Amino acid sequence: MTKKRVAVLISGRGSNMVALIEAAQGKDYPAEIALVLSNRPDAAGLARARDAGIATAVVDHYRFGDDREAFERALDDELRKYRIELICLAGFMRLLTSWFIRRWRGRILNIHPALLPQFKGLHTHRRALDAGVKQHGATVHFVVEETDAGPIVLQQSVPVLESDTEETLAARVLEIEHRIYPEALRLVAEGRAKFAGARDEAPAR
Ligand code: GRF
Repeated sequence: MTKKRVAVLISGRGSNMVALIEAAQGKDYPAEIALVLSNRPDAAGLARARDAGIATAVVDHYRFGDDREAFERALDDELRKYRIELICLAGFMRLLTSWFIRRWRGRILNIHPALLPQFKGLHTHRRALDAGVKQHGATVHFVVEETDAGPIVLQQSVPVLESDTEETLAARVLEIEHRIYPEALRLVAEGRAKFAGARDEAPAR
């Protein structure tokens, strides 16, 4: 079995990245984490990746000012240098342009801390509590131009409890994230989940 070469893109603590690294240590896992890339030199996850013996790179977005495409060309160069085949966004806090997304079409996954299509964007746990939903959760999806909108690979729900605060709910969701992200990457790396565009883009039958 040749393992798919995966880059995990982070901006922060990298707990999902660690979950992916640990899963990929399994002999039968169909992907290897070949690179951890951060847009922030101070991302805590970088040290955790190095401790696990994974190659790391930093492409600091500040260096590129407003030129998002130049930033993404630098990202793309790193990804090609490491012969990356699939990208996992894991707390990567930069929106990607359509140039980059088209270039990697069907090969970028993201994890979102909510049951999409509910609660796209930021502060999902606070918004779930404010809305009074009884189920919340996490979603792994393919990345398309529209933020938090691509085809869903896996999602799982957790109950919202009367006593929940943003923190307790976030912790319950995070546990689910760490379970479904490695599982979703497995499905994609094995070709069992494929990107086919959004349903309404599918040809009429
Ligand atoms: C996670 O909640 C993820 O769903 C969201 O950002 C957070 C990143 O956490 N996109 P970590 O860096 O993986 O610990």
